Amino acid sequence: MYSGPAEPTQRLFFALWPDSGVRDALAGFAHAHIRKQARRVPAANLHITLAFPGSVSAGVRECLEAAAADIQGPPFELTIDRVGYWPRPRILWAGSSHTPAEVWSLVKALRTSLLACGLQPETRPWQAHVTLARKAGHALPVTELDPICWSISDFCLVESVTNPSGPVYRIIRRWPLEGQTLSMG
Ligand code: 2AM
Repeated sequence: MYSGPAEPTQRLFFALWPDSGVRDALAGFAHAHIRKQARRVPAANLHITLAFPGSVSAGVRECLEAAAADIQGPPFELTIDRVGYWPRPRILWAGSSHTPAEVWSLVKALRTSLLACGLQPETRPWQAHVTLARKAGHALPVTELDPICWSISDFCLVESVTNPSGPVYRIIRRWPLEGQTLSMG
C-alpha cells in the first residue's frame, strides 16, 4: 500500500570542530605524511565525531537540538599526539594518548540524548579520532605527531551532504561549554 511521500531527512552528527590553527596543523601533518596511498580528507572536513544520529526527520532533529541545549560542561583541552590505522574501514586517523574525562562525559550525554529521541543505541565503541584519510592500504611509518593542543569550548551539530565530489559538512548549530561539571539539565 502506498503510504505517501517519504518524510525528508537530514544526515546529522555531533562533533568537535577544530579552529583554524588546529585544522591547519592536522592538514599539514596529513599533507606531509599521507601521499598517494590514501585519499586525504579535505582540511575543511576535519573533525571529531561525538555521536552519530544518522538520517533523521525534522522532528527528531528538533528533539536532538533541545537535548543538546540541556548538556552542560566545562571547556577542556585535548592534545592530539598519535596517529593510527584501522585496517577494516581503511582509515588513517589522528587521536590522543589521553582522552580527558570531559569528552567522555560529553559523548555519554549525547548518546543518552540520541536514545531519548528514539534513536537506536550506538553500536560502535567510541574513540576520539580525527579521520585524516580513507581508502588507506596500510599504516604510516610513524605513530606519533608533534602534539597539537586543541582548546575545546563548544560542540556542534553538523549536517553531512553527499555531493558527487564527496561529502560536504555544514555546521547547523553550536553549543558552548561553559559550565563547571557536565550534567544533563
Ligand atoms: P569516521 O570519521 O570514523 O568515518 C560523518 O560521516 C562523520 O560521522 C564521520 O566523522 C564518521 O566517522 C561518522 N560516522 C559515519 N558513520 C558512522 C556510524 N555508523 N557510527 C558512528 N559514526 C559514524
